[in-house]
Amino acid sequence: MIGRLNHVAIAVPDIEQAAKVYRDTLGAEVSAVVAQPDHGVSTVFITLPNTKIELLEPHGEDSPIAKFLERNGDGGIHHICYEVDDIIASRDRLTGEGARVLGSGEPKIGAHGKPVLFLHPKDFCGTLVELEEA
Ligand code: CO
Repeated sequence: MIGRLNHVAIAVPDIEQAAKVYRDTLGAEVSAVVAQPDHGVSTVFITLPNTKIELLEPHGEDSPIAKFLERNGDGGIHHICYEVDDIIASRDRLTGEGARVLGSGEPKIGAHGKPVLFLHPKDFCGTLVELEEA
């Protein structure tokens, strides 16, 4: 059911510093910082030949990544995103298998303008999983 790895998201305390590491030290193609107030984060996208890395910094008071950064002060891998062809069919199959979808259970429009859902880490090997309709 899952397809390509769309991105790996890394939460960071200082997105400018993290962007510099990827651009200058690792020599990657790094976007400008984009504030995404609807999602409570600022993002930088890093384009690699076969996938993307998404840097996330908290934006605003109730950022969904604030708690993660309290536990991981240097930052760390926050979630991985797999592509699916049909997000509703995928959700229904997964909930039928007993998996838990976070939030309302309805897809939201994600940082790339496509419908996304997040799956409970306890059901997926301790990893927060995002599904994005390709
Ligand atoms: Co993501």
